[in-house]
Order: sequence, then C-alpha cells, then structure tokens
Amino acid sequence: MKLKNPHVFLIVIYCLLYRTVCAQHIPIYLDENFPLESRVEDALPKMTLEEKVAMIHAQAMFSSAGVPRLGIHELWMTDGPHGIRAELNWNNFDYAKWTNDECTAFPALTCLAATFNPELAYQYGKAIGEEALYRKKDVVLGPGVNIYRTPLNGRNFEYMGEDPFLTSKMAVSYIQGVQLNGVAACVKHYALNNQEQWRQHINVELSDRALHEIYLPAFKACVLEGNVWSVMGSYNKIRGQYGCHNNLLINEILKKYWNFDGVVISDWGGVHDANEAVYNGLDIEMGTWTDGLKSNGKSTFDNYYMAATLFDKIKKGEIPESAIDNKVRRILRLIFRTSMNSQRKFGSLVSEEHINIARKIGEEGIVLLKNDKDFFPVEKGKYKKILVIGENATKPLTLGGGSSELKVKEEISPLDGLKKKYGEENIDYTMGYGSGPSVYAKEVASPYNADSLHRKALQMAKDVEIILFIGGLNKNHHQDCEAGDRLSYDLPFEQNKLISDILRINKNVGIVLISGNAVAMPWIKEVPAVMQAWYLGSESGTALANIISGDTNPSGKLPFSFPVKLKDNGALFFGESSYPGDNVNQYYKEDILVGYRWYDTKKIKPLFAFGYGLSYTKFEYGKIDIVKKNFSKDETIELKIPISNIGERDGAETVQFYVTQSKPSVLRPEKELKAFKKIFLKTGETKYIEVVIPVSSFAFYDEQKQSWIVEEDKYIIHCASSANDIKNSVSIFVK
Ligand code: GLC
Repeated sequence: MKLKNPHVFLIVIYCLLYRTVCAQHIPIYLDENFPLESRVEDALPKMTLEEKVAMIHAQAMFSSAGVPRLGIHELWMTDGPHGIRAELNWNNFDYAKWTNDECTAFPALTCLAATFNPELAYQYGKAIGEEALYRKKDVVLGPGVNIYRTPLNGRNFEYMGEDPFLTSKMAVSYIQGVQLNGVAACVKHYALNNQEQWRQHINVELSDRALHEIYLPAFKACVLEGNVWSVMGSYNKIRGQYGCHNNLLINEILKKYWNFDGVVISDWGGVHDANEAVYNGLDIEMGTWTDGLKSNGKSTFDNYYMAATLFDKIKKGEIPESAIDNKVRRILRLIFRTSMNSQRKFGSLVSEEHINIARKIGEEGIVLLKNDKDFFPVEKGKYKKILVIGENATKPLTLGGGSSELKVKEEISPLDGLKKKYGEENIDYTMGYGSGPSVYAKEVASPYNADSLHRKALQMAKDVEIILFIGGLNKNHHQDCEAGDRLSYDLPFEQNKLISDILRINKNVGIVLISGNAVAMPWIKEVPAVMQAWYLGSESGTALANIISGDTNPSGKLPFSFPVKLKDNGALFFGESSYPGDNVNQYYKEDILVGYRWYDTKKIKPLFAFGYGLSYTKFEYGKIDIVKKNFSKDETIELKIPISNIGERDGAETVQFYVTQSKPSVLRPEKELKAFKKIFLKTGETKYIEVVIPVSSFAFYDEQKQSWIVEEDKYIIHCASSANDIKNSVSIFVK
C-alpha cells in the first residue's frame, strides 16, 4: 500500500505515542477519572504554603484564589438567592457597570416557599444555576434559610418562613437544582441571623431545644439531604462566639455531627479574630474590612486575618501548617466540583425557559387571603374601567433590598401586566402614595407631595366601579431590606390612611400587598378582598395579572403567620431583651414556640395563619386512611386521604399534616408540620394524597441526653388546609 503522504502518518503515530507516554503523567488531581478524594490528596502536597494561605481568603470582593502554577482554578462567588447579581468591582461593593450582566429576577424565596411546591424549588435552583454558569460564577450565595422569628426582620423576604420543615424541603430542592449545574449553592446565614438590627455583633442566647428544633433543621437538611457544597457563616454571635468562626456550630455540629465536607465561607466582613478563624472551622475569609495600613485602601486582601499575618505565624512555627490543610482540602474539593468540572454546560441568561419558571413560581406563590363576594377574579370585560392605585404597581422592586438586588433585563410591573391583560384603555392609574429611592442602609425622603397624591387618588376613586390598591412594603431601608429592621408593623408611607379614605368613597376595593413580611391590616373588615403577592421578580406584572384576571387560579399558602398586632408575636411578647436585644445580647425567650407554634399553644388567633391560602375553587377533604395504629420508633407512617375539587375551576391545594404529642414529658408546641403535598385537581376530580411520615420525625431534642427522643405516647396526626383549619385527624400509638 503506497502512502500518499507518509509524513502525516508519522505525525499521527508520534502523537499517539506521545499521548500514551504522557497520559500517565497527567497529574491525578487534573484527571477527572480519578475519585475526588484522591485528586484532593494528590493536589495538596504539591502546593506551597504561600499558595495554601492565598486560597483561604479573598483575592477580590467575590473571588478566592486557585493555584495558577498547578492549573488549579480560582473560585468566583455571586449573590444572590433570587438571581445572579450584576458584576461588582474587584476591590469594593460598587458595580462594574458591565453591559452584559442583566439577569432574570426570580421571585423572592418567601414566594417560592408560599408555593409549597418542592418541584418548583428544584426548577428555580436549576435555572439560577444556569444563569450563574453563563456568568462564569462557581458559587451562588443562597438560599437563605433563617427562620422568620419576628415580622420586623428586614431580610425575611429572602428566607422561607417560620417553619423548619417547609424551609428544609424547599431549600433542599433549590440546592439540588443549583448544584446539578456544577455550581455550588451556599446556604446562609449559619446561624441565628434572624434580625438585621445590630446584625454585625448581637449575641444570640437560646436553649438547645430552640437551636436544634427550630433554627438548625433547615441547615441540617441542606447538608444531609441537599448535599450543599458550601455554607455561609452569620455575622451575629451565638453564645458568645461569632457565627463565622463558631466552634460549636461549625466544628462540632456542622463538620463533626453532620459530616459536612464542603466549604465554610464567612459573611462579608464577618471575621473578627485570627485565631478563631483558623481553629473554629472557617475555610474562606471574605469581605474583611481592613485598615489598609500597608496599602492604599480598605479591603486590601493581604491584610485579612487569614493572610500575611497567618503566613508569618506558620513560617515561624507559631501555628502548624496542618491547621490550614483541612481548609485547603475542602476548597480543592469545591474547585474540582465546580470551576474545574469539565462536564459543566455553557448556561443561559434570561432565556425564555427562565422567564417562564419565574412567572410560574410567581403565580403559584401568590396567596389569596380574602375574597368576599368573589371580588377576585376580575374577569376581563367585567368592568369598563379599573382604577389602579399604589406606588408598588410601578416601582421597580428588583432593585434595593441589599445584596439580593438585581439588574434585570426587563421587569414587567404590575401596572404593565394589568394594561397588557385588560387593555391600556381600560386601566387608569394614580400613585396614591410615594416613597424615596431605595438606597442601601439609608432612609431617603420621598420627593413627592404626599397630600396631592392622596387627594388625586380620592378624587379618582369617586366614580370608578372597581379599585385595585397595589401597595405593601418595598426594598427601601427599614422596609424589606438588609442592614436594618422595620420600625413598624404598619404599612409605610401613610398607606393605611389612604386605604381607609378610599374605602369611605368606594367599597369595591381589592388590596394587593407586595411584601416579604406580614403587616397590620386595620382595614381588613372593610375590604372585600386581599391578595398577598411577594417580590415576584422579572415577571411580576404578568404573574399578578394572570392571577387577578383568573387566567391562573391562585394556590399559594402563607409560609409565615400574620399576627393581628406585633405584641401577639412570640419574640416581641417578651420585650426588648428578646427582640431586638440590648445591643449586646438577646434572648430567644419564646424558645421553641415560633410562629404558629406560639399562636396555637398560647391560643392567640392570628389575622392569617401559617399555611393559609384561598382558591377560586373549593376543595373537600375525605377521611384519612391509615393501615394500622401502632408503630415502633423506626417505622414510617403511610397515610392516604381523598381530596376533591368541588368547585367550577381547576385548581391546586396544599394538604398539610401536623402532629401533636398527647402527653409529652416536656413542653411541646400544640402541633408541628411534618408533611405537606400540593395536588392539582381538575374541577370535579378526586385524587388520593399519599404521604409517608417517619415516626422519628416526632422526636424532640432532649437537652439532658443531648440527643433526639421519640417518647412512647399517643400522637394525633391532623390533616389540614392551614395551621388553623384542621379537616380531620387520626390517632396513632408509638410503642
Ligand atoms: C452581605 C450579606 C450576605 C451576602 C454577602 C455578599 O452582607 O449578609 O447575604 O451574600 O454580604 O454580598
């Protein structure tokens, strides 16, 4: 056989030989065919001390170093839980003003929680992970899972409500969706960051039961079920030690008991002690404010606690190098899982798919709270003219709120959505009230003339058939915003007075509240209808218009209770030492009785209960079907119950299962959520809900034994449509 071009042949042979010979010299840590742990163990000894120290603190505001010499990539982190934040500068919190970093703003996590739909949480995580990929980010700094302890916490809108079980289920699915992309989620803020007031230093004191039964379960689920790859320490102190280097929370509970193999990242500026940072389990120090002594500016990265000074101490033998090896191992593991994961896809930004999932979550999260005389839905064509009043109908609410703020490609406002739905000519609008611009950690006065806005609204309210008042809170300081708590339980910017004045002129008013928190509703008896909408993100107006018009049937349920007044709330009941504390310490005196656990046990009727939400159709609950009554502690309980849609429209209902222990040896809440399932039913359809509840989930945390205990006792399992609407119950016995 005559070769046409023998030299090509020789080159191919050479490459094959070279490849074979060299292949065995591709270092193990670079070879993804090897198990993760052997890659980590192969890389570690190859690193110099300098490279190790560089890896455990920031190299930029949102990045930590890799090892260029070894081809080990750096890590890029990004806020936030609701979307991929616009690019910030290398060395400060100012925006880099890129033109290609507009994102999809997904609904706030309160809205996601209100869907009670873990499948949507998974879709949410998958989509936000794809946007992170596209933006070349390896760690998404979310989800936030801090429990809703008081309606005054400025960051409740970023979290998933008052119940540890609901938060756990939704956060685990979100994390699985994010990490499917080879992008790490970073569950935060670990732990007990339940207020913004004095968040940088307040010391939280609480019982072991409250810690283990209320405030840790969501983090535990994210580690054990969600396999989360990173955790963010909290700013506050817990029992005297800062969250970012808290020996009990990080070394003992997170890394030892829960066997967490990922990376603990500090909150930005949350590190305050070099020694504790090294020995109490912190892995990457981010955002430390340095005095810039040795260079020309704050945040100079060599001045971090775990940087130059640490390097010198190790060099001098004051600290063993092994003290940081475990940190480096965890960071290498994270890098191999993310930035060096060759299976990662390209990702996508503001794709149609992402916009659709954002809208779907918004629609499924909106909660119909009151609907007398079928005020909602407002069918198209039912009224000639609809008057919309309220600044939240037009104010861009993806801006503000702190680190979760987003630069969106488009935000369909409620007014835009309503005009599109009903036709421009059928919608009139007036602002009614106006707030200042949203500025971080600063209250800016409103530029509007409040009286004239108020008068205009009343004048326009006179001769219209129907009014939609779209108000609530916003992302301004002391509203739903990081770095400050609310100063009042009332609607801000004189909305309550405006609503009452409007009602004196026109009774046919539907209130749509956009917020991430409960508010007082002094006008609740006078209005025919109230809808709790959330910060719905890019598709706010579309989702809201679909629900208001009835094109979509609302199915959201409240992820936190709405107390009638602040003093009804457990944390506030115990006064200043409980909330907000005395600027040094605060004591969680309501203990395990958080949210409905408090209202139920203290027999305080909330304005609206946890798990409450109406539909445009009606559901009927059948009898609980259970195969037996006696269970051992390691068994699971299988329950079935028929649910019927007896109304005229298709819809979805979230069936909730709460458990009461009959005669506990310790104080226990009247009941606790142990399962829920959302079911979609066509009109006239009946389906069985099936849930499995492990008996082990009936346990309480025994402070003497420092372990979980299920007592032999009778337990009542309630099937309910909300915490204060039990449909029927069944008793079982644990032997
Ligand atoms: C902020 C927040 C945290 C955020 C981080 C980076 O202070 O507490 O949630 O991810 O700093 O912006």
